[in-house]
Amino acid sequence: MIDAQTRLLALLGHPVSHSLSPSFQNAALQFLGLPFVYLAFDVLPQNLSKAVEAIKTLNARGFNVTVPHKERICSFLDHLEEEAQIVQAVNTVVNEDGRLLGYNTDIYGFEKSMEEEGVRIEGKNVLLLGAGGVSRAIVFALGRKNITSLIIANRTLERAQELALFAERFFSFPVKVASWEDAMEGEGECFHGVDVIVNATSLGIKGEAIPLDWHKFLSCSLVMDVVYRKGSETGFVVEARKRGIHGFSGKSMLLYQGVRSFELFTGHPAPVEIMKKFLEEG
Ligand SMILES: NC(=O)c1ccc[n+]([C@@H]2O[C@H](COP(=O)([O-])OP(=O)(O)OC[C@H]3O[C@@H](n4cnc5c(N)ncnc54)[C@H](OP(=O)(O)O)[C@@H]3O)[C@@H](O)[C@H]2O)c1
Repeated sequence: MIDAQTRLLALLGHPVSHSLSPSFQNAALQFLGLPFVYLAFDVLPQNLSKAVEAIKTLNARGFNVTVPHKERICSFLDHLEEEAQIVQAVNTVVNEDGRLLGYNTDIYGFEKSMEEEGVRIEGKNVLLLGAGGVSRAIVFALGRKNITSLIIANRTLERAQELALFAERFFSFPVKVASWEDAMEGEGECFHGVDVIVNATSLGIKGEAIPLDWHKFLSCSLVMDVVYRKGSETGFVVEARKRGIHGFSGKSMLLYQGVRSFELFTGHPAPVEIMKKFLEEG
């Protein structure tokens, strides 16, 4: 029941209309009868600081942060927990009496999604597509799994180079940077032994394909897409499965980053099965 004690939880991003978070977060809050309501707000980059001020003014309990604010939000927060501090990207903010505390639950979400799918990436050669906010969390999770090597390909090469520096700072496996075009064409010797491809770009949200020349990636046996779609698989996962490659989309990652956020916001264990059900039903 919503009454005068109900506190706001929010999602800040641009765009947010495709997000499944309000659906499964509210389902979990209602299931446990907790006094919160979760709403999505479309916040343009130039309005982020005003949105953060509004959260404080309205004494909202906290908020999730999505594209494209995960890195910039750090500068508005009072404290970052250890993993968020390392990756310098935040997707969950808790308001403790006016102090804003930043967390990164994408790392947990990605690790847990691999566990759910029963995949092991230890000893694998990984190609990561993308170098945005979520890519940092993924590099950190991959690094903790002792992969053998990493290639980072991104449309904007400088962002890939920055991310490679980050990976080299924390991990000892070799890291290469590739242009987006070379990666799509599999042009270069470094692509020959790729075992795993991770899509961490925003390509696929609207059903767009990733124009990968699959013939150049015959050693690939696993595809992980952080993008997810309501009611269907992403094009990237569909294309992988057509070729007999094990592939899964970002729904399970979304679920588990949300589970951890829910627990940080409410202090209650999350009703995972309820959240999963609402996520699957969209
Ligand atoms: N499943 C989950 O739980 C979960 C969690 C977090 C994020 N995500 C999804 O992950 C995606 C990326 O999130 P983010 O926070 O990293 O966003 P971001 O910081 O805005 O980065 C977007 C990334 O996509 C690339 N990109 C965008 N349009 C492209 C195009 N037309 N061709 C090639 N590359 C393109 C960007 O390249 P440039 O650097 O060249 O712009 C950048 O690498 C989003 O779709 C988001 O919804 C899912």
